[in-house]
Amino acid sequence: MVLPTYVSNVLEIWVVWRGRALRQAQGRLAREMPTADETGDESFAVGGWQAANLRLRGPMWLDFAGKSARATRSKVKLLKLPYLRKKIMNKPLRVFATCDIGEAIHLLRKRGYEVEVYPQPEAPPKNLIIEKVKSGIDGLITTLRDPIDAEIFEAGKGTLKGVAQFAVGFDNINRADANRYKIPFTNTADVLTEATAEFAFFMLGMLARKMWPAEHLTRENRWGYWHPYLPFLGDEVTGKTIAIVGTGRIGLAMIKKCAGFDMNMLCYDPAYENHDYVKAIQEVMDLRQARGISKEKNWIKYVPFGDALREADFVSVHVPLLRTGESNTPTYHLFNEKTLRMMKPAAYLVNTSRGPVVEEAALARALRENWIAGAALDVYEKEPLPADSPLRDPAIADRCRLMPHFASAARITRLSTDPDKGMAGRCVQGLIDVLEGNYRGDITKMPYVVNKEAFGK
Ligand code: GLV
Repeated sequence: MVLPTYVSNVLEIWVVWRGRALRQAQGRLAREMPTADETGDESFAVGGWQAANLRLRGPMWLDFAGKSARATRSKVKLLKLPYLRKKIMNKPLRVFATCDIGEAIHLLRKRGYEVEVYPQPEAPPKNLIIEKVKSGIDGLITTLRDPIDAEIFEAGKGTLKGVAQFAVGFDNINRADANRYKIPFTNTADVLTEATAEFAFFMLGMLARKMWPAEHLTRENRWGYWHPYLPFLGDEVTGKTIAIVGTGRIGLAMIKKCAGFDMNMLCYDPAYENHDYVKAIQEVMDLRQARGISKEKNWIKYVPFGDALREADFVSVHVPLLRTGESNTPTYHLFNEKTLRMMKPAAYLVNTSRGPVVEEAALARALRENWIAGAALDVYEKEPLPADSPLRDPAIADRCRLMPHFASAARITRLSTDPDKGMAGRCVQGLIDVLEGNYRGDITKMPYVVNKEAFGK
């Protein structure tokens, strides 16, 4: 029998088993440890370290601690491992997921976790989440529809170790409460950036080119003739000016897509400006014009909010929802009667960020009274959109596109188990980092943890 070999340096451990590197994990050796059947009851030594009675019956965690340690568990003994410390998982880690996130759940189960998934497509009632948390789960998988606050953290006092949010936005999680209870929460930033930006762009095109009323015309057999301008015309996107409100990840991705359509760009962000990115986009646009790819010379610049609204043909919103008290630059109802009236009557508004950034009653009025030409929304003040929402008014249906919070709803983006591609993969990896103490247990170093500020020295 080939014995497993530990090959180690200060940063990582590999288990080599039958000539195969089974797993590298930062500073840790975990779930892929050979099982009892594979190892037998043997002892072995590598590089001066020795393990005896290696008989593993389930997941075992080894962390560097920079000191020698000896740890014993039934059937497991590790001796003289100068840089290793053993943390034993006596019970399987327990997780409750408020929604099914597909294959990624099995990644957790394969690691020995006990995972319960709420089986309905609708959000579970809050008292059910509280009940599950009270039952002693270690981790909670949530999404944007679950209110996570002090009540939940109180229910998990002493047992709940982390919350993994399946979404980039986390306005449903009370960050101050999470910090007070010292519960790290993760999100799934990055992996949905391009999908969300492309959806915003498609909505913008669909709205401006009147694809929805045009298709209705065809389907309802009202397409009686081809005519130069009847029954209606849309507006081109190419060559127009767009205001990008919010230049975080998704706003920047939207800029990239708009650059491909030879648009001019007015950027505004209440909190964060990326001048390097804007400069690079300008260089790309200059080159496109110099090489004859674009006819006009397009431009991009940061401007104050009012200027962006007054001068743009399109306004696309990409800010997080921040309510008064949560930030010095709150975004709640950033679009209201006053700011909507600043837009051109021929301009269109697109919102893929969070519903409450736009005051819907004011927007419905803006559409009814033609303060602006149209709006395409993917997010709402209340979701799902209530039956009596003024946005459903048939009088504005031709200029108001309504999507069901769908911008990230693309196969790979939502469900890939690869943490670099899919929200599901990133969500479980975030949870694993927290529950298994990756990064030597230093939460401030875990890339998907949002509220790192609560864990600094
Ligand atoms: C979707 O809106 C998200 O925040 O992921």
